[in-house]
Amino acid sequence: MLYQGCEIGVAGLGVMGRNLALNLDDHGVQVAVYNRTQDKTREFLAGEAAGRRIRGAYDLKEFVGLLRKPRALLLMVKAGPPVDQMLRELLPLLEAGDLVIDGGNSHFTDTARRERILAKKGLLYLGLGVSGGEKGARFGPSLMPGGSRKGYDRVEPFLTAIAAQVNGEPCVTYLGTGAAGHYVKMVHNGIEYALMQLLAESYDLLKRGLGFSAPELAQVFESWQQGRLQSFLVEITARIFRKRDDLTGQPLVELILDAAGAKGTGKWSSWDAMDLMVPTPTIDVAVTMRDLSAHREERQEIARLLGAPAPQDPANREEFLRQLENAFFAAMVVSYAQGLAQIRQASLAYHFGVNLEAVARVWRGGCIIRARLLEDIRSALQIRTDLPNLLLDPHLGEMVRACEADWRAVVRQAVAWGLPAPAFMVSLAYYDAFRSPWLPANLIQAQRDYFGAHTYERLDRPGSFHTDWDD
Ligand code: 6PG
Repeated sequence: MLYQGCEIGVAGLGVMGRNLALNLDDHGVQVAVYNRTQDKTREFLAGEAAGRRIRGAYDLKEFVGLLRKPRALLLMVKAGPPVDQMLRELLPLLEAGDLVIDGGNSHFTDTARRERILAKKGLLYLGLGVSGGEKGARFGPSLMPGGSRKGYDRVEPFLTAIAAQVNGEPCVTYLGTGAAGHYVKMVHNGIEYALMQLLAESYDLLKRGLGFSAPELAQVFESWQQGRLQSFLVEITARIFRKRDDLTGQPLVELILDAAGAKGTGKWSSWDAMDLMVPTPTIDVAVTMRDLSAHREERQEIARLLGAPAPQDPANREEFLRQLENAFFAAMVVSYAQGLAQIRQASLAYHFGVNLEAVARVWRGGCIIRARLLEDIRSALQIRTDLPNLLLDPHLGEMVRACEADWRAVVRQAVAWGLPAPAFMVSLAYYDAFRSPWLPANLIQAQRDYFGAHTYERLDRPGSFHTDWDD
């Protein structure tokens, strides 16, 4: 057959870019690659890509020249200014009808802006959320594309081929217009933060509360993995507790400095939830606790000053383990509930046209928050795609309600031990607040009116009222 050029170009040969290029090549897609540092391209072509059909280019002009028209380019460069820089250099080389896909963790407002700029030149743009880390990119990520429908249709066969598959269904589908894909990825990361914080709190309660050793902890998370908590994050947590340090033979996790880093996607998720006035307290507190953990010196000093609470009677181990498993399940449902409610609201506000059932579908495999629970979530969203809150689904709602007593017991125990478990706590408070037909917000309205004449509405008559409270 006559060589017509490569079907897609991957720009940026960091580990994600390299692995996606290899994954595409595995599936028979003709790939061209480019990296700003030429050595990286040479190294890749002579190493991992040796013997494959992947073609390399050493400058952008050559790269663009290798691509079949209309061209499709996948940018795998660091989110932020590097994407704008790459676009600035590419634009003069591209033609109307070409498609640019940004596969990084770009902020959704950047994606929306870039799509508008490219559209003026007749170029198609897709913001593509890619989850699953290095292995996912290599062997099957979860893909969250949004933007130009026409552009998506063009690359759908490639994306479908490389994505993770669950029961014969690919973990990719068109999610909506504009920045829908990057938005969904951002909230995916928000939920990721929430689940990681809940796992960290579980670890703390078992370690400092019950005195569990690393092998005992591994056993707990391995047993969770056998049931309804089955998920990627529980699986890797169990594995982490089994890992021993090569140098000392001790459990490696215990040697890691207790200050968490963050690249910012969780914070972005919380930020926008607040802008949209969607409550996502579990995600918010997960961001806060990473920040707090990083104030390590301050923590050491305050600990010296204020000490630890008086020791409490140890809980019944078996009983507490059972309660914790149920509390984790309830808080897990609540974490997904918050994220999906945010996506629903964002889709309305930003006109993305996201179908929540499709989101649950693409999250079932390949991504960091993949979990057995997503099957139930998907079923709930199949019945009602615009479900405002997962707690409104009778099946999910009942499952959470059944965990209520154990959830409270875990929170009570954490308080008694003086161990911080804010993600369990705010998840429970979220649940309690949403099942409250009445909340004390009337007092807040009265206070606002008292000091700021902000007015209030009444339950017994229409209109807006102001009172002279000191009179
Ligand atoms: C994924 C991950 C991935 C990455 C994030 C999290 O879905 O594969 O979410 O995108 O690990 O950047 O990073 P931070 O924890 O540093 O914010």
